[in-house]
Amino acid sequence: MSKKLVAYFSASGITAEKAKVLAQAAGADLYEIKPKVPYTAADIKWTNPLARCNKEWIKKTKPALADTDADIAAYDTIYLVFPIWYYTVPLIIKSFLEAYDFSGKKIAVFATSGGSDLKKATQHIQAALPNAQVVEGAMLNGVSNFDEYIDY
Ligand SMILES: Cc1cc2nc3c(=O)[nH]c(=O)nc-3n(C[C@H](O)[C@H](O)[C@H](O)COP(=O)(O)O)c2cc1C
Repeated sequence: MSKKLVAYFSASGITAEKAKVLAQAAGADLYEIKPKVPYTAADIKWTNPLARCNKEWIKKTKPALADTDADIAAYDTIYLVFPIWYYTVPLIIKSFLEAYDFSGKKIAVFATSGGSDLKKATQHIQAALPNAQVVEGAMLNGVSNFDEYIDY
C-alpha cells in the first residue's frame, strides 16, 4: 500500500476542514503548511488593495514557511490541498514546493474556492515539479463523501 500524506494550507479554515476529513478517509497522515507569519483576517481581505495578500501577489513574494519539517521522503503520494487564490495556487504553495524534493512522487491536487476550478493550479504545479506525477483531484467545496478520492 502506498504511503500517503495530506499536506494542506488554509487561511480561513474551510480547506483545513476538508483536508482533515480527506486524510481520515484516505488513511493519510496530515501536515499543515503554515506561513512563518500567520495570515490575519486583514491580511487576506483581498478586496483591500493594500492587504498583505494583494501586496504579495503583485510582487510575487513567496511567504517564508513556519517550518520545513514535513517528511516528504517517507511518502509515495502527497495530496496537496489549498484554497484557490487569484485563480491558481497561493504563493505559499510555491514556497512549499521549493522547500522539498518531490521527484518520483505522485501529487494529487485538491482545492476549495469561491468558484474557480483546479485547471490552472494543476498546470502550475506540474510545471513547478517536472519530475513528479501531478494529477488533478477535485474541488472539495461541496464534497462530503471522500470515497472516490482515497485511491491515489
Ligand atoms: C487572497 C485570496 C484570493 C482568492 N482568489 C480566489 C479566486 O481567484 N477564485 C475563487 O474562486 N476564490 C478565490 N478566493 C476564495 C478562496 O479560494 C475560498 O474562500 C477558500 O475556500 C478559502 O479557503 P480557506 O478558508 O481554507 O482559506 C480567494 C481568497 C483569498 C483570500
